[in-house]
Amino acid sequence: MSWKCIQVETQGAVGLIRLHRPEALNALNSEIMEEVVQALQQMDSDDALRCIVLAGDDRAFAAGADIKEMAEASHIEMLQRNNIARWDKLRKISKPIIAAVSGFALGGGCELAMGCDIIVASETAQFGQPEIKLGVIPGAGGTQRLTLALGKAKAMEMVLTGRMLGAQEALERGLVARVASKGTWLEEALALANEIAKMSPLALRMAKEMVLKAFETPLGEGLEYERRSFYMLFGSHDQVEGMKAFVEKRPANWTGK
Ligand code: CAA
Repeated sequence: MSWKCIQVETQGAVGLIRLHRPEALNALNSEIMEEVVQALQQMDSDDALRCIVLAGDDRAFAAGADIKEMAEASHIEMLQRNNIARWDKLRKISKPIIAAVSGFALGGGCELAMGCDIIVASETAQFGQPEIKLGVIPGAGGTQRLTLALGKAKAMEMVLTGRMLGAQEALERGLVARVASKGTWLEEALALANEIAKMSPLALRMAKEMVLKAFETPLGEGLEYERRSFYMLFGSHDQVEGMKAFVEKRPANWTGK
């Protein structure tokens, strides 16, 4: 498959998707979003892959939805384009996705990073929801996910002023999992993806699903889901293999069954 706005490669059990519109700081127009979703879906259905990394370049992960594409659109045109519906497909990807963020992650770019499962940031990363400066508000999850990640006060400050949050503060506040130096951010994200890719694909899928449940269900319901999923894994070959391998002091050979 040939891609126009992204670059796609695989490294062992890890899939790497790189946003590639450097002339527009990887601004997310319809075409790039469509390609990202298609590449993610292909990787999700490829049994050889266990983890996905979504990255930009040194200067920008993505500077937001493409303002030039929507500047003159009417309400009805925006409704008909329904670009944000693509983001629902991102939520359906079952494999873990790591966002590797260097430079700007703004507007839709910040929302795309937050829609992934883990963010690894370069020390240069800057997160922000500057839509307020354009006379609109975040439209792809920013008000919700930023609030869940940072709490009301900081999220309000960012959404109401458009101010950016640097990598170190994003780490301290729990928005990102790791901060890497500006020369190693992608390498570190790939290393983390490789570590994850060594686990049972079945357990990974359940683990991701259950952590995400915490955002959508009350605690009692979430605990019930988790318990059922835990018991369900005792019907899998990977559970038998994983525990046998521990006892026999050898690496497990996962089949994902
Ligand atoms: N859409 C379209 N083009 C963009 C863009 C965007 N979001 N962000 C940057 N670009 C383009 C610029 O227009 C410029 O192109 P030209 O050279 O053709 O003019 C090129 O990328 C480089 O950008 P700058 O010259 O502005 O670079 P800078 O270093 O001076 O500034 C920046 C960088 C602070 C990120 C600035 O580009 C900026 O403020 N960008 C817009 C950020 C923004 O408002 N994002 C939110 C978009 S709305 C949204 O995302 C809605 C949603 O929730 C779904």
